[in-house]
Amino acid sequence: MSFKGKRIVITGASRGVGYHAARLFLEAGAEVLGTGRDPERLRKAASELKALGAFTPVVADFFDPAAPKRLAEAVGRQWGALDLLVNNAGVQTYKKDWMAEGVDLLERQLRVNVLAPHELTFHLLPLLRNGDEPRVINVSSGAGTRQALIETPDMPTYRLTKYTLGGLTILWAGELKGAVAVNALDPGWLKTDLGGPNAPGEPVDGGHRVLALAALPFEVSGKFFYGDQEIRF
Ligand SMILES: NC(=O)c1ccc[n+]([C@@H]2O[C@H](COP(=O)([O-])OP(=O)(O)OC[C@H]3O[C@@H](n4cnc5c(N)ncnc54)[C@H](OP(=O)(O)O)[C@@H]3O)[C@@H](O)[C@H]2O)c1
Repeated sequence: MSFKGKRIVITGASRGVGYHAARLFLEAGAEVLGTGRDPERLRKAASELKALGAFTPVVADFFDPAAPKRLAEAVGRQWGALDLLVNNAGVQTYKKDWMAEGVDLLERQLRVNVLAPHELTFHLLPLLRNGDEPRVINVSSGAGTRQALIETPDMPTYRLTKYTLGGLTILWAGELKGAVAVNALDPGWLKTDLGGPNAPGEPVDGGHRVLALAALPFEVSGKFFYGDQEIRF
């Protein structure tokens, strides 16, 4: 797979799925601007990623509502165009059901998992319109399908934010039909800080699934994938 010369933004590139996607895209010839919240962790990741190719680190904390617009401005200064936005940064709190989770978690998780991807897509749109077969990949979760909501009561707030991200993907895909491809991805259950040590998959598997989706024909839009396999939302 070659992504030679592609200009790619990956949020949450300091560890986990985002780090591995950044690594694989750089190895495939892309230029990557990757974000992290923790400056020290991003600095360490950047020192490894810069050894592979053109990697630019930008600190962005999506709990800050001003962060998406600021990030879009930085991308504009860097390239003036964008070929792929990977909305990957995400947060998850785990409790067994709604009553244990209470009502306070929703606003913070919505901010990072839904509002930041929405605002980034909005603010980066002029740059995406200047891009080459521009795309947006929203990293969702198998935990955020309708079926998962019906069958599984744990971590309901997280599930709801990912279900909402799926809806956001459909709406943006409709709005941008023919101009920007917008799809959602389940990266699989993986041994990252978020996925935990019992997950069956490795973080790099998620990176490969991001690249597999990014390599699909440009006409594919408004769908939910596990790698290059379409799944039910
Ligand atoms: N791992 C799984 O099993 C699994 C399964 C399904 C879906 N997903 C989804 O895949 C995506 C990546 O997950 P992961 O497992 O790689 O997670 P992870 O290892 O916990 O990494 C999360 C990344 O997001 C960044 N981030 C977290 N909070 C942020 C904030 N408030 N503002 C900006 N950046 C923030 C982190 O930056 P810092 O390093 O600076 O904190 C880090 O780069 C998420 O959207 C997640 O929901 C994961």
